[in-house]
Amino acid sequence: MTVAQPEARPGEEVVLRDLEWTDLAHLAELEQQLFVDDAWTEATWWSELAGRPRRDYVVATAPDGTIVGYAGLDVAGDVADVMTIATDPSHQGRGTGRVLLAELVRRATLRGVASVLLEVRADNDAARRLYDRAGFEVISVRRRYYQPGDVDALVMRLLVAKGDT
Ligand SMILES: CC(C)(COP(=O)(O)OP(=O)(O)OC[C@H]1O[C@@H](n2cnc3c(N)ncnc32)[C@H](O)[C@@H]1OP(=O)(O)O)[C@@H](O)C(=O)NCCC(=O)NCCS
Repeated sequence: MTVAQPEARPGEEVVLRDLEWTDLAHLAELEQQLFVDDAWTEATWWSELAGRPRRDYVVATAPDGTIVGYAGLDVAGDVADVMTIATDPSHQGRGTGRVLLAELVRRATLRGVASVLLEVRADNDAARRLYDRAGFEVISVRRRYYQPGDVDALVMRLLVAKGDT
């Protein structure tokens, strides 16, 4: 699926497709840049891929096929949890995160969930803005959840109406 990005430069677009095993080494490299100490290793990615169909991962690619972002869900019963969402640092701020999050919500809705949940660091301004704008609301706070630094975790939820896709 090709999706025009709302604030992208003219002609710029990302293509969404399912995650494939050939992507995993590259994703492990991106994780190091994006999440540092909490980065998922290639082995973790293999185990996530093996968790399909309960796990559902999508990648966003540039027209030349380069991966510029990725995101994934865990779908269990009537709840979907956002496992991860990230945009390559050199591609951030161009709407890729918004496109990926919308795709996760679309996939969750198609699978009949009632709500999408996620957890975000209280100091992650970019992610919080992304989720706020998509309609997620804070439903609880886990005080001093992230260490070191005593940073709170916000649990956010989007209620999904049947037939929203
Ligand atoms: C969070 C993240 C995925 C957003 O991806 P992105 O492709 O840059 O996001 P978009 O360009 O679609 O922007 C989405 C919204 O976030 C806002 N945003 C993006 N970067 C921002 C920043 N540095 N500070 C504040 N807001 C920011 C945008 O303004 C936009 O809001 P708008 O609709 O009001 O314009 C990206 O910053 C990222 O990969 N961060 C590191 C990994 C991470 O923290 N993931 C989330 C874990 S919970």
